[in-house]
Amino acid sequence: MIPVGLLVLLAVKVFLVGSQTSEQATNPPSSTGEQPPLADGNLSFPWSRLRLPRYIVPLHYHLLLHPNLTTLRFTGSVQIQIDVHNNTNWVVLHSKGLQISKATILDPDLAHVSDQVLPVLHNPSHEQIGIFSPRVLSSGQKYFLYIEFEAELADGFYGFYKSTYRTSEGEIRNLASTHFEPTSARMAFPCFDEPSFKANFSVRIRRSPEYISLSNMPVIKTTPLSGELFEDQFAPSVTMSTYLVAFIVCDFKSVSATTSSGVKVSIYAAPEKWKQTHYALEVAVKMLDFYEEYFNIRYPLPKQDLIAIPDFQVGAMENWGLTTYRETSLLYEPLTSSISDKLWVTMVIGHELAHQWFGNLVTMDWWNDIWLNEGFARYMEYISVEATYPDLQVEEYQLHTCFAAFGLDSLNSSRPISSPAESTTQIEEMFDTVSYDKGACVLHMLRHFLTEEVFQGGTVRYLRKYSYGNANNQDLWDSLSNTCSEDDFTSGKHCYSSDQASKNAYLFAGEHLNLTAMMNTWTLQKGIPLVTVSRKGPRLLLRQNRFLRTVLPSDPQWAAVQQGFLWHIPLTYKTDTSNTIHRHLMTSPTDSIHIGEEVSWVKVNSDMTGYYVVHYADDGWDVIVKLLRENHTALSYKDRTHLIHNAFQLVTAGHLKLTKALELIGYVQLEKHTVPLLEGLGYLQFFYHMTERMDEPLLTMNLGKYILQFFGAVIDQQTWSDSGTVSERRLRSEVLSLACHLEYPPCLERANQLFKDWLHSNGTLNLPTDVAETVFAVGAQDEHGWTSLLNTYKISLSDAQKDKILSALTSSKSKDKLHRLLAMGLEGNVIRSQDLSHLILMISRNARGHHLAWNFVKKNWDTLVEKFQLGSFCIRNIIMGTTGKFSSPEELTDVQQFFETIKEQASQLRATQLALDNVHKNIRWVQRNLESLRIWVNEQMK
Ligand code: BES
Ligand code: ZN
Repeated sequence: MIPVGLLVLLAVKVFLVGSQTSEQATNPPSSTGEQPPLADGNLSFPWSRLRLPRYIVPLHYHLLLHPNLTTLRFTGSVQIQIDVHNNTNWVVLHSKGLQISKATILDPDLAHVSDQVLPVLHNPSHEQIGIFSPRVLSSGQKYFLYIEFEAELADGFYGFYKSTYRTSEGEIRNLASTHFEPTSARMAFPCFDEPSFKANFSVRIRRSPEYISLSNMPVIKTTPLSGELFEDQFAPSVTMSTYLVAFIVCDFKSVSATTSSGVKVSIYAAPEKWKQTHYALEVAVKMLDFYEEYFNIRYPLPKQDLIAIPDFQVGAMENWGLTTYRETSLLYEPLTSSISDKLWVTMVIGHELAHQWFGNLVTMDWWNDIWLNEGFARYMEYISVEATYPDLQVEEYQLHTCFAAFGLDSLNSSRPISSPAESTTQIEEMFDTVSYDKGACVLHMLRHFLTEEVFQGGTVRYLRKYSYGNANNQDLWDSLSNTCSEDDFTSGKHCYSSDQASKNAYLFAGEHLNLTAMMNTWTLQKGIPLVTVSRKGPRLLLRQNRFLRTVLPSDPQWAAVQQGFLWHIPLTYKTDTSNTIHRHLMTSPTDSIHIGEEVSWVKVNSDMTGYYVVHYADDGWDVIVKLLRENHTALSYKDRTHLIHNAFQLVTAGHLKLTKALELIGYVQLEKHTVPLLEGLGYLQFFYHMTERMDEPLLTMNLGKYILQFFGAVIDQQTWSDSGTVSERRLRSEVLSLACHLEYPPCLERANQLFKDWLHSNGTLNLPTDVAETVFAVGAQDEHGWTSLLNTYKISLSDAQKDKILSALTSSKSKDKLHRLLAMGLEGNVIRSQDLSHLILMISRNARGHHLAWNFVKKNWDTLVEKFQLGSFCIRNIIMGTTGKFSSPEELTDVQQFFETIKEQASQLRATQLALDNVHKNIRWVQRNLESLRIWVNEQMK
């Protein structure tokens, strides 16, 4: 944060610059986007910071846009009502790639302050423009800034961009859509493009009669203009941030319904995909009803449109009242969408609609706290889907959110949940696993710690208090601490007036708790605590360290990386002597708890509601192994899953022997629950893929045999159908896919038969949706099958099916075919650019495509960055995905050398350091564990 005093000083400086140069201002600089960055004539750009000055505040934008879907250009004008807080001659705001043809400033009566076109200076490196007013704009006054501009519809996925789709007749049609978050509203219109500059937006859009236009609010008036044009006028929006503004011109069709409180919900898609919109409609209506009740705050707009955009970089975007989705995130096609596809659509809608409150109604002050948006939205996916679609059993996958966070947060190059972010690349990079998954996991921990009632009460208080405004972490902790009204303060339980106790006082086990102090250890400090427990008589001894997978306790740098880390850990544990879950808040490096001499086993971190790893020292793991073998149902399925995950994490971090973790999953043969079963299977599968890539044919073969033997019963139980519960269906998908990959003859036979039937039916046979991908993957192994699949890919109207086919195509053993796919992805016609990063990832997962994908990335790096932008999801996924499984020193050197060649960009990216850390971790793993794995597998095969 910039101190207020400094801001005032800066403002004064700017004012001086303006007044000194006012005489020369009659000669406006040329006003195209291609201007030199700074000085122009005698005016120099008045502002040197990345963030805008705070002394001019936008209040209301009147925006007119006219995209031309034939010339693929748009023109526009914006009138922004501004509130001036300091005398100045300059208005500085954002604009990127826009040609500005006119700028004027009008006084409050809409009379010109200056009767001439004003000089506009550009600072492209900061994506800012400065408009010079020869007359001083006075503090305390409101003015209107008026700007006319034009640009091409963007080619990528940001700003006001072009998208296309193909009809079944082969006609290519265009549409224009927006994606602004985090910093691309400035590509569509000049604006104060920071989340705390909230304003109202009145939008008008001009279009030809064959199109419709959509924006955040409903159309209130349509006016015919000359030349076959119509102008749609939208109702003024609520007060909101620029990154949530959206507008679309397209020829899509929709279905609509109304929620119980009267909000009109519509799902839009390309005309021929209209049939796939019905499930989303049902979900969206239910979700809006649910959130209105859960938050006890009305959804404030009269409508919510959800639209499937054919070219979309990420999964979905929460623009207020007009949420945009990738087609696979919104469309559900019963004949080809699997249960996982259905779950995905449900969760994505749950996520974007949660943002209508968390993010849209209350927005983080700045991007450093994007977790307040994304962590909450990710967490609400689970709460909302659990409540609205209990059959989807979404709770079973919540642990994986935390596992995903562990993956990154256990590397030294991780970051705190709240981290500084100034440049656009840094801001983009904030949308990562730490903000989403660690954020959600920490909220999950907090909810369990505070109880559901207090957590919900506090979050609702937060949403109410900061509605239409901005908030930071402290505001959240304060709201969670004050969950009672003033009247309740005296009654005790959770409530204290400020003079009774410190601001964040909380009652926990009879002690006052400072919630801010506790939560700061989770949000301002990176990493994961490792809690080591040991038994000493009746006591459980506890020690906390930082959990790192890259630095082992035996390494010389161990002490240095541990220095200064301490968490306030809400510990929970269960023992064999009672049915209750015990609690203990651990705030110091070491601690102990009385549990009693008679206790035979303790399981710490019950149901993994806490964000920490547990190590059972001495013979602690033997006790656990025995318990799982003899009586695994004494623990919940979440506890069992957690133990498996925990054990393998400890192996990587050098605290536990690989053989112990392998011994632990020996019980999995008894396991009836899908989640721990898949967790155990997942590690074996992971090792299989690893050895396969490392060119260890004998070990790979033996491991494959072992897996088939060990899981034989589960594999043989599976049917090739879509029947059963959601868990059963997901298990089936995973298990059959693995069995066929391991070339289990009965699996191949069945898949080949189904594929043949499918081919003979000319693609009209409906394969069971959950196994279709496996059937396609088996079919894709010969020339005819692969080509037929590619042909179906080209014409299929189901994006769910296309995804399955693409995945199958990438499983080919032919390097030529993999090359061909990459070339098609780069070209972007048959395989859309939006799918390129996923394509690269899938190819790098194929043992034969591993290096091929990485070489492709190195060769086409500049094109990829140009397509997706440096800090984007896609670029980071490409880096992490292609290097993620490297495990040899040669590969590490290769990655290092490549990053050296792109030094300028690499130094701006956290992802490159993470990638190097990760490869380093893999190398250590192989050095330390490969031989044990080999010996262990051989022993099992005896
Ligand atoms: N606000 C994000 C979209 C976004 C992502 C903007 C990255 C800028 C950078 C949206 O709410 C989101 O989180 N999308 C996720 C959706 C998830 C539930 C599938 C995504 O796109 O992956
Ligand atoms: Zn989100």
